[in-house]
Amino acid sequence: MKVRVLGDPVLRKKAVPVTDFASVRAILEEFKMTMYSEDGVGLAAPQVGISQRFFGMDDGSGFKMIVNPEIIEHSDEKEFGEEGCLSVPGVFADVARYKWVRVRYQDEHGSYHEELLEGYPARIFQHEYDHLDGVLFIDHLDSKTRVALSQQLKKIMEERQKEMKK
Ligand code: NI
Repeated sequence: MKVRVLGDPVLRKKAVPVTDFASVRAILEEFKMTMYSEDGVGLAAPQVGISQRFFGMDDGSGFKMIVNPEIIEHSDEKEFGEEGCLSVPGVFADVARYKWVRVRYQDEHGSYHEELLEGYPARIFQHEYDHLDGVLFIDHLDSKTRVALSQQLKKIMEERQKEMKK
């Protein structure tokens, strides 16, 4: 699977809920391999061109497929932490995220799960969840940081344009 980068319209689309769990199971191994081969801790379906609401993540406790996720409750407070994204290669910046989130999701078989995530797992979940709504981590940065990164972002988009023409 090819990871889509900044400038690809699929990254900005609101993804639709999963209804066909068999199709998620069918691509699970390839999806997981794509995430690990790119050294990612998370990968959302839109990042490989599938505009559906699921993502994979591994916070250190193994790979999990998260389907039709919801954030049902979250902390008042946010905390900053460094993030990167396979779709915005080479760019890292501090992003504020809720300290904890209570989440509900389905697995690749359609079974429901509810969990309280804190710290790093909560951060990954929020980052990947954003992808399903067409939001990238760079959208959360303050204008000063965005300006500082603008050349880098422009370069990523230009590289993509060149790739497309090949
Ligand atoms: Ni990402």
